[in-house]
Formats: sequence, C-alpha cells, structure tokens
Amino acid sequence: MLKGETLDRQRRGKARSSKARRAHQSERFETLLDEMSGAMSRVPGHEIDGAIERWLREIVLALEIDRSTVWEKASAELGFAATHWWARPGIPKLPRKMVSMRISPWLTAEALAGRPVMYSSPADLPTQERSLKRFLAAHGPEAQLMLPLEIGGAVVGGLTFGKFRGRWNWPPALVRRLRVVAQIIAGALDRKRTFIQGRKLREEVTVAARRAMMGQLAASIAHELNQPLSAVLSNVNAVRRMISGASFDRKEAVAALSDVAEDTKRAADIIRRVRALFQDNLSPNGNLEIGALLSELEGLLRSEAMLRRVSLRIEAAPCLPSVTGDRVQLQQCVLNLVLNAFDSIPPDSTRREVLIRAVQEESEWVTVAVRDTGRGIDDSVAGRLFEPFVTTKANGMGMGLLVTRCILERHGGRVCGNSNADLGATFKFTLPAIAKP
Ligand SMILES: Nc1ncnc2c1ncn2[C@@H]1O[C@H](COP(=O)(O)OP(=O)(O)O)[C@@H](O)[C@H]1O
Ligand SMILES: [Mg+2]
Repeated sequence: MLKGETLDRQRRGKARSSKARRAHQSERFETLLDEMSGAMSRVPGHEIDGAIERWLREIVLALEIDRSTVWEKASAELGFAATHWWARPGIPKLPRKMVSMRISPWLTAEALAGRPVMYSSPADLPTQERSLKRFLAAHGPEAQLMLPLEIGGAVVGGLTFGKFRGRWNWPPALVRRLRVVAQIIAGALDRKRTFIQGRKLREEVTVAARRAMMGQLAASIAHELNQPLSAVLSNVNAVRRMISGASFDRKEAVAALSDVAEDTKRAADIIRRVRALFQDNLSPNGNLEIGALLSELEGLLRSEAMLRRVSLRIEAAPCLPSVTGDRVQLQQCVLNLVLNAFDSIPPDSTRREVLIRAVQEESEWVTVAVRDTGRGIDDSVAGRLFEPFVTTKANGMGMGLLVTRCILERHGGRVCGNSNADLGATFKFTLPAIAKP
C-alpha cells in the first residue's frame, strides 16, 4: 500500500471521528438546553438567581467557554450591572459591583439598542475604545460575545461570554446556541421581575390588611369596654337618685358602689390586656408560650363569641414547647382564624361552636387548630383561600388568610384549612417548636 494512501485514510478517519464528536457534542448540548429551559420554568421565584448562576456554569463547561456574565439594566447613568457570573477556575472574576458604563459607553449603547457585539480579539475593537481595551487587558477576556437580553422586545440586560486563550473566532453554530441560552435567561429574569412585583404587592396588601384588622380589633375593644362603662354609669346614676331623693337606702347604695368598683376594675383589666396585646415586644423574636399567647387573647375572643352567641372552647395542652416570633403578629393570626370561624356560622344555625386547640405535633411542631361548626368552605374559593381579595362575604376584604399565611411563613410555619367531614371547617397553623434544653 502506498504511504500517501494510508495518510489519506487516516485523515479521513480523523475527520469522521471529529465530525462524530461534534454531532455528539451538539446532541448533548441540545439536551442541556432542554433541561435548562425546563428547570428555569419550574424554579420558584426566590431561587431564580441561584439557578441562573448554576446554569451559567453548566453552559460554560459544556461549550468550552471560560466565563459568562449576566448583566441587568440598572439606570441610564450606570448602564448594566453585572448580577450573575461564573468563571472556570483560574480565570479572573469580574471586579465586584461592575457597571457597564464604567467599562464602555459604546458597548453599553450597543446593548441598549439590542445589537449583539462579537469580537475575536481586542485588536478588532474600534480604535477609540481605549478604556475598554485597558479594561480587557486587566480583566479579560480575549474574545467576547455580548447578546442582548430582551423581554417582549425591550432590552432588560445583556449576556456575555468570554474566551481567554488568544484570538478566537465565534463559530456561527455556537452563536446560535448561545442565543437560545440568552432567551432562556431573559425568560428567567422576566419571571424574577414578576415574582418581585408580586412580593411587593403582597407586602402592600399586608399593610392594608393590618390596618383593617386594627379596625376590627378596635371595634372589639370598644364593645368590651362599653359594657362595664355603661354599668358604671347606670349604678352611679342610681346612687345619685338615691342620695337626692327622700328614701335613701344605705345598703343598696353600698351595693351599687361595690358594683361600680367591680366594673371599673373590669375596664382597667381590659385596658391592661389590650396594652399587653400591643406592647412593643422588646425582642420581636423572643420565646413565646402559645398557652400564654392564647390567654391574653381570651377576653377579646370571649366577648366577640358572646356577641355572636357562639360557645367558645380553648384547649391548650399542658407543657407545650415554646415557639419563637413576634407575639402581636401571631395573635393576629389566631384572631383572623377565629373571626373567620365565627363568621362561618350562619345566624340561624343551632350548632354554634368554635374550638381552639393547641397541641404539640411530633416533637418539632406546635399546632393551633380552630374548628367551627359553620357552613364549611365554599367550593368557589376552595383552592384560592390564601390569595388576596378572595372572599365570600358581603363586607369581606379577603385578606385575613393571606396576612395569616405571610406572618406564619415569616415564622417558618404554615397554615391550611379544610372543610370537616361532618360540619364546618378547621383551619390550622403550625410553628416550629424550640427544642427544650
Ligand atoms: N372557617 C371558615 N369556614 C368556611 N370558610 C372560611 C373559613 N375561613 C375562611 N373561609 C373562606 O375564606 C375566605 C377568605 O377569608 P379571609 O382571607 O379571612 O377574608 P374575609 O374574612 O375578609 O372574607 C372567606 O371569605 C371564606 O369564604
Ligand atoms: Mg377573615
């Protein structure tokens, strides 16, 4: 066999195997893109940032790129800010808090206009881009591709990929794939934006709902105070009539004045309890006894129960472990659930019972369940109880349960509600218990 022929065959073999390798690589990358796009659409809002960084790593490693950075639009003066990045070990990281205007107004303008920028070496850049070249000399890369990140036609950021080892041309097939990556990341940033807006709305809603709850609470307190005060007034009037009249019955006057003393004490008691309820917790995340927390609320709840002709039972298991958190906020949760329980009992119903039960579940959880004999959860709201403005009441705000959930989640707890098998519904929340030393 001729020497030349062997070489030729070897070359053909090599070409075939590198073609096969490329095909294999490309298949692997398509799978990776599928996975990335799936994962990005499922990741919860608060984990999107972490997921972006994880996937930048996967992409960089799969494509033999050295560094990739996501830039999010900041302001007209700053341009884009580097928000996520990943670099192979040994490759310089971007300086912290980098903004694009400081690197290059030209590159920033191109990105803002939605134009991709690609170069094989800093030598290819426009001559006047001196500060950009200086930056690249210090922090790299050699070859760079910048793709705009767009949401619905508006530029929200940029995605850059860098190669650090000498001059390098970007193959069109690679650029096409990286465009898909840019689309996926733009989608993720869009979801993050929606998530942040939603969180802001929820926070605003919480403030509004708290205010409404304060109104309810104030009405309850006013009602409770009104009873002893009216009694005092009528007794004082009676004594005055007795003193000024002809028939002064000393014994009756003393009895009336004792009632006055009793009622005044009751009023003072109510005020003391209310004060305790609103006292600024010195340590907002102090240890709390659920039993004590319920007893503080008891007066308020009982007077409301009386008003609505509901029999209220409160059972707190002895020796419950403590929980940690903000007392007033957690009392608000109980109040929200109990007021809902009262609301759920139709005015003409003969079974009018609400039971509050605090128990320890397993060793790590304390549970408070509020069970009523009301009409049960309406089908029309069953899946949406904890969403804002969901209500079946003529004067409902539909925010009590949302507020309750927000508070509990902040405390590492959760809340759920279900109709009972027989009558009414049970709402229950669970908080992490503090382990006893
Ligand atoms: N104990 C309960 N029994 C039946 N339905 C309830 C109960 N608690 C809440 N719900 C339902 O959930 C809705 C939302 O409750 P909530 O967020 O507190 O708002 P609101 O009390 O202003 O309606 C109520 O309108 C009611 O339909
Ligand atoms: Mg409510």
